[in-house]
Amino acid sequence: MSLADSLATIVGPEHVITDASMLASYETDWTGRFTGRALAAVRPRDTADVAAVIAQCADAAIPVCIQGGNTGLVGGSVPVDGAVLLSLSRLDRIGDVDTVAGQVTVGAGVTLARLQQHVRPLGFDFGVDFAARESCTIGGMAATNAGGERVLRYGTMRAQVLGVEAVLADGRAVSRLQGLPKDNTGYDVVSLLVGAEGTLGVLTKLRLRLVPLLAARAVALIAVDDTAAAVRLVQQARDTLPNLEAAELFFADGVTLVRRHTGLPAPFADEHPAYLLLECADRNDPSENLLELLESSADVRDATVASDARGRHALWLYREAHTESINAEGVPVKLDVAVPLRALADCVAKLPSAIPTGRAIVFGHVNEGNLHVNVLDARDDAHAVTDAVLQLVASYGGSISAEHGVGRAKQAWLGLSRSAEEIAMMRAIKDALDPRGLLNPGVLLPPA
Ligand code: FAD
Ligand code: MLT
Ligand code: ZN
Repeated sequence: MSLADSLATIVGPEHVITDASMLASYETDWTGRFTGRALAAVRPRDTADVAAVIAQCADAAIPVCIQGGNTGLVGGSVPVDGAVLLSLSRLDRIGDVDTVAGQVTVGAGVTLARLQQHVRPLGFDFGVDFAARESCTIGGMAATNAGGERVLRYGTMRAQVLGVEAVLADGRAVSRLQGLPKDNTGYDVVSLLVGAEGTLGVLTKLRLRLVPLLAARAVALIAVDDTAAAVRLVQQARDTLPNLEAAELFFADGVTLVRRHTGLPAPFADEHPAYLLLECADRNDPSENLLELLESSADVRDATVASDARGRHALWLYREAHTESINAEGVPVKLDVAVPLRALADCVAKLPSAIPTGRAIVFGHVNEGNLHVNVLDARDDAHAVTDAVLQLVASYGGSISAEHGVGRAKQAWLGLSRSAEEIAMMRAIKDALDPRGLLNPGVLLPPA
């Protein structure tokens, strides 16, 4: 029996896809930059299915590449040639909200938007949010330790994931879903699997911390002169506004692209070099707090504030539509870096001369010093562009991957952010849990 046939006995023939045209959507990433040819795509329903699929593939020594919503931006979600593509999209069950603990257990394939719809009517919210919410899965977000727009208040995925169920490379399942906030009984295997980018196991269920739903929100879009002014304003906002939730930076060239793609009007009568978006969330309308900040700062060149849902959404679009608008111009080389906040303005100023070719559109999450550097018209020079940006970032002691993960895109540069000793530790962990290198080969670490 072929491997595809034996996988069909586990998940049903309709969930083993081998037809080339039906495989296509699993084989290319969101940006269109990364592709691979899978032997088959397999769509298990639950942890037992995943365990049986992984055990079959291990028996046949066939690598398994793991995919959630396929919105990852570093090439980790597409298969290597000849691998089985394991899609987690059918692991989409959501448990009842544990209102006593403020927690919920969800299948890895549940999308962020579905989780939000499930918990919000009960007065809860999820601490991580970003523009891919309709497609990205909780499993993929945990695997990449996704960050997004609320990190300054709630932290990254690692701070939200209290427990996991996972299948290891040999098909054994491990379950740790109690969600105890205090539990010092040895190695933190949950935190280890979160952010491992699917190299150590397949996440099948996650126990999540919820946060209180704060429905009263106010968003300010603020025109400023430059990055240094945005950083000063964010520092002031952080010091004076306990309800501050988001601080996002973008520039005039990004707004031009977004307007071209979305048809949005100009945000202000005059164009400005840089824009800062701040959001506050509380039980009562926080607009007054934001307005006080704007009045007291010398860095504000123009500003508009919205507290109704429609107005807030319109302001957020200038920021959240960046990713799609950039991709609409062509396949970008995307880099996601972080530098110490005190070096952010200097780094932004040096980027244009550091990048050897192409058109760079930069935006990011200010408080974490997290810049998304998107270089258009540079696909053929991806290596040189990546090297130039990551070397610059490393010169500040920064991170070559702030929130998207290392994937296949940045694996060769891991040594810029991690010491040889740390990489050897990571390799030892990988070898202990996946000695034949069958899970997500080439992601994060070079193939064994
Ligand atoms: P995929 O893309 O399918 O996979 C991502 C990685 O995780 C791959 O290596 C894959 O093998 C692995 N993986 C997936 N599921 C599992 C699982 N169940 N078990 C083990 N490994 C698994 N990221 C941010 O951090 N912040 C942002 O603000 C942000 N904004 C975005 C906006 C847009 C428009 C887009 C397209 C992407 C954005 N991202 C952002 C990228 C981000 O990495 C993903 O959206 C999300 O974390 C990936 O989820 P996914 O389900 O699509 O995972
Ligand atoms: C974002 O913050 O919008 C993202 O991480 C997506 C991107 O980098 O394009
Ligand atoms: Zn981001």
